[in-house]
Amino acid sequence: MHAAVVRSFDTPPRYETFPAPEASGEHGLLVDVLAVGLHPRVRSAADGSHYTSDGTLPLIPGIDAVGRTAQGELLYFVASDGALGTMAEQAVVDRRRAVTLPPGTDPVAVAAAMNPGMSSWVALRSRIDFRPGGSVLVMGATGNAGQLAVQIARHLGAARVIGAGRDPRRLDLLKSLGADDVISLDGDESDVADRLGGAAGDVDVVIDYLWGRPTQQAMPALLTARGDRSKALAWIQIGSMAGQDITLPSFLLRAANLTLMGSGQGSVTTAGIVAELPSLAREIGSGALAVNPLPLPLAQVEEAWRTPTAPGQRVVLIP
Ligand SMILES: NC(=O)c1ccc[n+]([C@@H]2O[C@H](COP(=O)([O-])OP(=O)(O)OC[C@H]3O[C@@H](n4cnc5c(N)ncnc54)[C@H](OP(=O)(O)O)[C@@H]3O)[C@@H](O)[C@H]2O)c1
Repeated sequence: MHAAVVRSFDTPPRYETFPAPEASGEHGLLVDVLAVGLHPRVRSAADGSHYTSDGTLPLIPGIDAVGRTAQGELLYFVASDGALGTMAEQAVVDRRRAVTLPPGTDPVAVAAAMNPGMSSWVALRSRIDFRPGGSVLVMGATGNAGQLAVQIARHLGAARVIGAGRDPRRLDLLKSLGADDVISLDGDESDVADRLGGAAGDVDVVIDYLWGRPTQQAMPALLTARGDRSKALAWIQIGSMAGQDITLPSFLLRAANLTLMGSGQGSVTTAGIVAELPSLAREIGSGALAVNPLPLPLAQVEEAWRTPTAPGQRVVLIP
């Protein structure tokens, strides 16, 4: 079969022939792959920098996909752990990590949106007891996961959703996707802190795709602006687009009712993540949650890797 193959962590995958995988065990199933998202998580596995990376090469990148079984069933699936991912003409699916999609579902839309969408879907439904009427700030709302988080928070009943990010055009668009307010993270640090404290000081939940400098600024800004410091604030760390580390002054943990947690592989079990997939796939398939996919042939994987995408756009490779 043809596949994208990584032979060195220093170079993008190349389109090559590769032995087709073989299904084994009670739950294994071979599918034809129809569409695969090029998510940040896929890039970090392909350059060896993801926290789950064990250095095995060669590898086929791709952590999820939409595929079709020999019987014609359409599936969204999360790849099994290991070196053989989904950026290939064929992949082995573990049925326990797959959900059936209704006939007619657009494979490209689902491949683009499930990974970024599940980050906030799982966080709000599994990591905290999120109640309708709550208020949510999304840090990094201008990316794919962030723009879906705005929509998902609204969909799950948030009374107020605020999106913070840099790109001014994407910030404008967020209002049409359900954000009540947007905050620019660009500019002078004390202005940014004032804007964050003023607009989001009383939120119940922060969904954080950034970490690094913006989070280090936002945390004290929000906590010191809180009208009632004993009101619970759940800060859910999901991505680290702006940095791997922050410095956390100890007083922040004493001066307000802050709970810091993460959401992702490990803090949520695979079974817990998979349990959330059917409901999210239904919402994406129905068009309720908007994404902006850029479909490209898998044969162009090397160019796709190097070409920068517009903010809020997700490359989807088609074998
Ligand atoms: N834990 C999970 O379950 C899970 C699941 C999916 C994704 N993730 C993680 O979530 C993160 C976002 O994923 P994504 O799919 O949304 O990626 P994406 O579409 O590439 O968006 C990332 C956004 O981050 C913003 N950004 C980058 N550097 C920044 C900085 N220094 N300061 C402020 N903003 C910055 C950019 O916004 P501007 O254009 O405004 O600059 C960009 O649009 C990634 O780290 C990904 O690995 C985690």
